[in-house]
Amino acid sequence: MPDLTTALVLGALTATAVGGLAWRAYAPRSFWYSVAFPIRCVHVYLTWGHVASGVGVSRKRRRLRWSLEPVPLAGAVAEVVRYRRRVRRVDVNRAPRLGLVRPTAFGWRVGLRLSDGQNPDDYVRVADRFAHAWRVHAVRVSSPKPGRVVLTATVRDPLFRVGDLPEPGDLLRVPVGRLETGEAWVLDFRTVPHWLNAGATQSGKSNLANAIIRGLAAQPVALVGFDLKGGVEFTPYRPRLSALATTRAECVALLDDVVRVLASRMQLCRVNGARNIWRLPEHARPVPVAVLVDEVAELFLMADKSEKEEIAKTATALLRVAQLGRAFGVYLFVCGQRIGSDLGPGVTALRAQLSGRVCHRVNDPETANMTLGDMDPAALQAARQIPAETPGVAIVAGQDGQWHRARSVLVGEDDAEHAARAHAHRTPAWAEITATGPVGLDPTAAADYADPASEPPAEAA
Ligand SMILES: Nc1ncnc2c1ncn2[C@@H]1O[C@H](COP(=O)(O)OP(=O)(O)OP(=O)(O)O)[C@@H](O)[C@H]1O
Ligand SMILES: [Mg+2]
Repeated sequence: MPDLTTALVLGALTATAVGGLAWRAYAPRSFWYSVAFPIRCVHVYLTWGHVASGVGVSRKRRRLRWSLEPVPLAGAVAEVVRYRRRVRRVDVNRAPRLGLVRPTAFGWRVGLRLSDGQNPDDYVRVADRFAHAWRVHAVRVSSPKPGRVVLTATVRDPLFRVGDLPEPGDLLRVPVGRLETGEAWVLDFRTVPHWLNAGATQSGKSNLANAIIRGLAAQPVALVGFDLKGGVEFTPYRPRLSALATTRAECVALLDDVVRVLASRMQLCRVNGARNIWRLPEHARPVPVAVLVDEVAELFLMADKSEKEEIAKTATALLRVAQLGRAFGVYLFVCGQRIGSDLGPGVTALRAQLSGRVCHRVNDPETANMTLGDMDPAALQAARQIPAETPGVAIVAGQDGQWHRARSVLVGEDDAEHAARAHAHRTPAWAEITATGPVGLDPTAAADYADPASEPPAEAA
């Protein structure tokens, strides 16, 4: 009989274990929310006191505590003592107050009230220790409001496999990958108009450009390419590109065109009393232009002195596009291994205008500094730690004021090429975009944007 019971118990345990493993393998999401997360959550609460004091975020507090004190008995031998209860002040470790632990797709998030005298940096410094204490891949620290920090734990690296992405929705918003938090990484040119995409060779820069081309191909947007690597990167996408420059002379001419487009749009907006093209009525609004530059350093490198003038023109034109583009619907996406002042005058000013930053794997800390600027040192550290075997992983900054670890979805040249061919019919002709012509006053727009002060009073009309 006992043998049968043992067999039954062992059988039930084995079946549960196998079932659990199968559940985790085939439906990891529901397994995480129903089984794994509740267990982790209980563990976090039960061990919080030890973890907080182990990583060094607890604070010492003085508390009154009862204690027993030995009192020698008068006239008795030395070993005989009496104990007396006394109230004493003692130091105790007090962990910061832990908020509600909430599940995320890849881990959990928990808010904390900072103890007096602490700041978020105290937690950033020990994020690694939290990760080890909780046995998770990483812990990120953010501070949504004064006096609070949020610890976001990711159990396994969510960037190991990026998976499917949502379909592109709004104009000029392109889902290109996944953030470490599990959310989609969406490049939004309307929020951040110009982007710098930096990284060492084979780090995934062109793949990200491919993802953007594939995403924008289906939208009513003109795409323009600058590819001084002899056109090998962008020529396959020619059917969806309104213009492509592959030599220095072509670059100068095309940038000239882009600056003329800006000037004519400026005039159009002025005449119609609009501050930017988005305030023009829809029928009068010119098509947005996304300018993609692959290997920007090639635009600035001088083979001999005869190119000096062309390079100076290029630098000035690019800077103008970056300065004026946002209002007039011209957006820049600049890729390069590094974009430093050593490339020539104007480069630093251009970099300052590229407020969206994507830093792929880099070979030296300076490139990370150059790309991410004076951001949180943890972001620079994270950029330097991107391993070579995960191309496409990058540190992204710009959109919400925070930095994120992210990975682009793999978009092979074939995919991007297919999208370019499939949407070739949407390609606006460059001649139409650059045709400045007389910029007329749009009558409806004039009514929409007329200065109310200049209107005649109602009774006079
Ligand atoms: N997100 C990604 N996921 C998986 N593999 C990727 C990803 N991004 C890039 N790769 C792979 O990494 C390799 C290099 O990518 P890519 O050509 O984009 O690098 P790059 O930075 O443009 O290099 P280069 O400076 O030489 O042009 C490609 O073979 C690509 O398949
Ligand atoms: Mg490339």
